[in-house]
Amino acid sequence: MQTSESIRPDREDESMQGAASLTGFGPFRSWKADARAVTVNGAKASLAVMFVAEHTVRIVGTPGADPASTPPVSAIVPGEPPFQVDVKETEEELRICGKSLTAVVRKATMSVEVLDASGKAVVAELELLQGQRKLRCRGPLNASARIYGLGETTGFLNKRRERYTMWNSDIYDPHVPDMESLYQSIPFLIHYDADAAYGLLVDNPGKTAFDMRADSGAYLIDPETGALDLYVIAGPGLKDVVSRYTALTGRMKLPPLWALGYQQSRYSYMSQEEVMRLARTFRERNIPCDVIYLDIHYMDEYRVFTFDRQRFPEPEQMIAELKEMGFRIVPIVDPGVKKDEQYDVYREGISRELFCKKIEGTLFVGEVWPGDSAFPDFSDERTAEWWGGLHRFYTDMGISGIWNDMNEPSVFACESKTMDLDVLHRNNGNPQTHREWHNMYGLSMSKATYEGLEKLLEGERPFVLTRAGYAGIQRYAAVWTGDNRSYWEHMAMFMAMGMNLGLSGVAFCGADIGGFVHHTSGELLARWMQMGVFAPLSRNHCAMEPVYQEPWQFGPEIEEICRRYIGLRYRLLPYLYTLFYEASQTGLPIMRPLVLEYPHDEHTRNLCDQFMFGPDMIVAPIYRPSAEYRAVYLPEGIWYDYWTGERHEGGRHILAHAPLDTLPIYVKAGAIIPETALRQHTADAGWSELALHVYCGGAGSSEFRLYEDDGLTDGYGRGEYNLLNVRLEEREQSLQLQYAYDNQGYDNGRDSLKLIFKHLPSSPADVDGLNEIRDHGEWKHADAGWLYDRDKGELFVKLRQASAGEVTVVF
Ligand code: GLC
Repeated sequence: MQTSESIRPDREDESMQGAASLTGFGPFRSWKADARAVTVNGAKASLAVMFVAEHTVRIVGTPGADPASTPPVSAIVPGEPPFQVDVKETEEELRICGKSLTAVVRKATMSVEVLDASGKAVVAELELLQGQRKLRCRGPLNASARIYGLGETTGFLNKRRERYTMWNSDIYDPHVPDMESLYQSIPFLIHYDADAAYGLLVDNPGKTAFDMRADSGAYLIDPETGALDLYVIAGPGLKDVVSRYTALTGRMKLPPLWALGYQQSRYSYMSQEEVMRLARTFRERNIPCDVIYLDIHYMDEYRVFTFDRQRFPEPEQMIAELKEMGFRIVPIVDPGVKKDEQYDVYREGISRELFCKKIEGTLFVGEVWPGDSAFPDFSDERTAEWWGGLHRFYTDMGISGIWNDMNEPSVFACESKTMDLDVLHRNNGNPQTHREWHNMYGLSMSKATYEGLEKLLEGERPFVLTRAGYAGIQRYAAVWTGDNRSYWEHMAMFMAMGMNLGLSGVAFCGADIGGFVHHTSGELLARWMQMGVFAPLSRNHCAMEPVYQEPWQFGPEIEEICRRYIGLRYRLLPYLYTLFYEASQTGLPIMRPLVLEYPHDEHTRNLCDQFMFGPDMIVAPIYRPSAEYRAVYLPEGIWYDYWTGERHEGGRHILAHAPLDTLPIYVKAGAIIPETALRQHTADAGWSELALHVYCGGAGSSEFRLYEDDGLTDGYGRGEYNLLNVRLEEREQSLQLQYAYDNQGYDNGRDSLKLIFKHLPSSPADVDGLNEIRDHGEWKHADAGWLYDRDKGELFVKLRQASAGEVTVVF
């Protein structure tokens, strides 16, 4: 608990004194260029400029003379070979020109301006500053500028007037707005102003503050240790920035389809019998579910890579039976290895020197669930390989998903709440203290886990869920937002948090549905479930003491609401899976802030209580108790109420009526949304039963691309996937829909393509080349034809599937 001691006067530090005590690196002394970098030496410090991609420039500042030799620390993807760089020197400045970007170093102060190919400033002035003990960076903030990104943070979408400290922390306290550090640290901000965006990644895994509050005209970046290692990523579009940031730090590989299903967890389901009962209950009650988690009680006294055989006498049989029923088991694996000389994992780690040691060479021992524990040094390739290989214990049992927790790392009963800061990580020959390397611990654990699973599974896709992470975590794991509470405020908080995680490269994220700590209510669970099924990761999880919160725990009304919305997620899986495919290709998030799609619209700039599910759907949850109405902002265009079909003119706010069983959802006119038949669990992603719902009334033409594969293996890397392009052209008296497979490498078992046209301008007179069918019974069995349902106002069309085809509807 905090006391007034937290605000002692001697706690004032340099960062609170603003920039007054800081000076620039200059004046300029000399420069030199080699194949990698242009190095500029100033009187007080030096900087290096490196073009790492066409639209990304790396600027490294150090007190020493060779900043160019600073190795990147995050999961930076090796870039394009260096470009031909041209340097022009004048009295006042050095112009360092890459392929599309130019870095201008002002000689007096050695501040840097980055220009785009047209000479327009991407960032007008990045001041590299030196304080008494460390380096800083200050960037300009106009009155109209917004800040997005910064990973997992409390607060609103726009981070103006906030301050965050990147330091992965296990926070059990409520996540209130002044909580500066949470479990993840993604030191990446997006600056958006005057319709142009740029990104700034500060690649430093030590404690780093981002202060958008101290100076109303600037943001200040304050790393406690290490170099000032900056990547300026040019836009101008917000999407360009996110896409280029994920090209730099890597994109997620496609997860298995089952990880997109509904997931159920609790700390803990205590026995094999309880887990089997849970699974049977889902199936008996017809509530779709794909994943059950095992929290720490499955282990033998919390020893990782073991099962407690009293509680779980036959885990292999349990896992096999569950697989038959369409369930996957995901067990928790924490980094702490119980200090127990009888325990083989501990013995091996000690004998092969794979654990973290303090600078003096003694083993670091910290207390976590198993009591005194040693911590693998994941910075070391040898340890990472060993750890990855240990997962054979799970994969041999049929497990292919792992939940990494406590990997900040969290350590009990010590002041730092983490590993001692003087632990020296081996870091493959470039040793770093824990103080310098802290934020990399969780990412390295997930990397070791993912890569280990990948090898062991021999072609099946792994799934890893993590609590801690750093820039690039999306390559290895999905992220959940830790120990939230069953508060309405925490339900609402996830919207901005999830959207900013998405803008920070983490497309696959979610929060514990229903809340982890505290007691949920039926109403809160229902509302949270409605929102949670539209999060990329949809997992209900709850702590030990609170009331049980499985979908059926609050009576038939709440159960029915949960069933309906989980079912909706399953019906929308073809759309969701395609969004995952796009995220794996472009890095764009699945859960999107409206500002990403409508950046020029003022109303979207800090909109935190509604979000987009891909580019075509808006989800506007109710996040207050007893509320049945809420304002929803619909941007330009025509929008349809998903449930009632009501048509809304965009560019304005509407009042949505949403009784407890209703989540307001809107679909954009022109959208083509694929839906599949409701199933109790996922199978493959070939969608043998597929209908393309075509929302007519858009602006003329629109397109959609559906992605399909087996949903399970890496076969897609060998071309075993389908890409189906669909194009809609709406004219006054007719509309035309064309489809063509760009790639047809997976047999989806369909012989026809089903289309459902909604919101037609009038009833169709003819559908070219197809026979009209008059009743639904007959239509079900026909290979091709059309049927107009007058009551619904919907046109059903079936086309024989070929590699390409088209249909024209005449009114
Ligand atoms: C941590 C995790 C939580 C988990 C618990 C027990 O608090 O955040 O999700 O249930 O540990 O393992």
